[in-house]
Amino acid sequence: MTRVLSGIQPSGEIHIGNYLGAIKQWVELGERLGREAFFCIVDYHALTNPLAYDPATLARRTFEAALVNMAAGLNPEKVTLFVQSHVPEHTELSWVFTTLTPLGDLTRMTQFKDKAAKQEAVWSGLLMYPVLQAADILIYKADTVPVGEDQVQHIELTREIARRFNALFGETFPEPKALLNPEAPRVPGIDGKAKMSKSLGNTIGLLEDERSIWEKIRHLPDDPQRIRLADPGDPERTIVFTYLSYFAPKELVAALKEEYRKAGIGTLVVKRILFEELMKTLRPIRERAEELKKDPDYVMDALLEGAKRARAVAAATMEEVREKVGLLLPT
Ligand code: TYM
Repeated sequence: MTRVLSGIQPSGEIHIGNYLGAIKQWVELGERLGREAFFCIVDYHALTNPLAYDPATLARRTFEAALVNMAAGLNPEKVTLFVQSHVPEHTELSWVFTTLTPLGDLTRMTQFKDKAAKQEAVWSGLLMYPVLQAADILIYKADTVPVGEDQVQHIELTREIARRFNALFGETFPEPKALLNPEAPRVPGIDGKAKMSKSLGNTIGLLEDERSIWEKIRHLPDDPQRIRLADPGDPERTIVFTYLSYFAPKELVAALKEEYRKAGIGTLVVKRILFEELMKTLRPIRERAEELKKDPDYVMDALLEGAKRARAVAAATMEEVREKVGLLLPT
């Protein structure tokens, strides 16, 4: 692994699914790779989401998404953290890629099909979404893309686009691989069924109010076959233990599972422990977020500095691409 890129949409509150599936890995990779780790807030992607996009709030949400990522541990003085629209080469490369991506490859994308099914009118931006994502990755020639499981298909498409470009114009791009957090590739939502997702409203936000988080945890579905407290429970049948395994030490999880199986403890006790363990992760993030909110110039300056560094790399790739595809160069 030499270079990493990943992105997050500024389309609402960042939740523990984003954190466990993606951001946690970003922080670790950033520590190892420093400036070779590129992370962007993908504001142009957010325009394709009519449910979440509002011109009156996009700028604020973009800023907040950057702030939350910093609060969660991404150090902009080490990694390259920036806003997608501040590096216009992404959209430029994405146009070149649309010209060599078969329509059928885009219409078969699961995320496209799911999102399109929920909309009355389907705009082309939604269809082209993964092409812009491929440009985000390949413009930095990144070889590793830390993401949640839901993005794996888009990364496969990115590989195909890289392969096709290389075949037509000569070896230019690596074929990047998705990197999943093996412990949390797909975090379930608080309903215990669907994937945790902003659009489904089944999330626990990183900065959500403590009382509201406790209410959500208190109502997490139990093992449906455990009717009375005296019944033995199966920890595999409730997401209370799934969540607990994300945040609590292994020995504590194993001991509580044992008790739960023997009907030694009720779910409410486990939920209280889960809440405390979760807050041990979330409290420092909130504290850091509060500090950053007091110093918005620091956040903005960091983003502009990140964009400058990113742009130097992106501009060099674009020059190479323009030449390889045979454009008249303005020399
Ligand atoms: P987005 O904004 O939906 O999500 C950001 C990251 O969080 C992961 N994630 C999850 N992981 C585990 N369990 C969950 N329930 C869960 N929900 C979200 C996502 O997989 C993602 O890694 N298309 C991307 C943004 C993007 C991008 C890129 C990613 C644009 N360009 C280039 C990588 C590389 C997206 O919508 O992420």
